[in-house]
Amino acid sequence: MKRETEGLNFTKESLLEFDVKGTWEAMEECSKLGLAKSIGVSNFGPKKLSQILQFCSIPPAVNQVEMNVAWKQEKLREYCRDKGIHASAWSPLASNGSSWGSMAVMESPILKSIAEARGTTVAQVALRWVHEQGSTAIVKSFNKERMRDNLRILEWDEPLTEDELEKIRQIPPCQGVRGDVFVNENGPGYTSVDELWE
Ligand SMILES: NC(=O)c1ccc[n+]([C@@H]2O[C@H](COP(=O)([O-])OP(=O)(O)OC[C@H]3O[C@@H](n4cnc5c(N)ncnc54)[C@H](OP(=O)(O)O)[C@@H]3O)[C@@H](O)[C@H]2O)c1
Repeated sequence: MKRETEGLNFTKESLLEFDVKGTWEAMEECSKLGLAKSIGVSNFGPKKLSQILQFCSIPPAVNQVEMNVAWKQEKLREYCRDKGIHASAWSPLASNGSSWGSMAVMESPILKSIAEARGTTVAQVALRWVHEQGSTAIVKSFNKERMRDNLRILEWDEPLTEDELEKIRQIPPCQGVRGDVFVNENGPGYTSVDELWE
């Protein structure tokens, strides 16, 4: 994107082709200069990650992507695991239905039944699932009590059972951010959401 179109206040015509190589090399430079301890990416699929891995001298430490019980990212997690890239989950509660999210997590009848049986909250079951996938949940709350509750999932004695995990597998897929705003069918960047997300 051009500088004047920072944030989401931009037109499709201002979208440019993503210079993955140039951007990553600049980030590596930041790391070499000691300006960044670790460098990573966000919303990258296997194709963009493999592009970086072909030329990089420092591989991405982390790939931060939309991930929750309703948008599980199985293939991407497997790819990241294979390549030693940590997959981190943004919107682990599907943003609790905020502007870009959905209620697919917080209103899931499956999560509600698991939470009720365990005496936990729905949010805790959702966050615990992320944790047990080996990912880190970037959960946001402005509420101290909910922040504490969210952290308590690290203290569970009993992990999710195979039966509970199987139920969670049945939660219908729901992507919060489709990303149409980052697509211009006329190019020069991504011409479809399929191409954007690979
Ligand atoms: N890299 C990217 O492209 C990208 C995209 C989107 C988001 N993110 C980042 O990911 C982080 C989290 O994403 P997000 O804010 O979309 O979604 P989220 O963490 O899934 O959901 C946040 C919402 O859930 C509520 N909440 C938190 N804990 C709760 C609990 N225990 N019970 C009930 N409600 C709870 C919060 O309300 P209260 O504050 O009232 O608790 C808030 O409304 C943010 O820091 C965001 O910047 C990154």
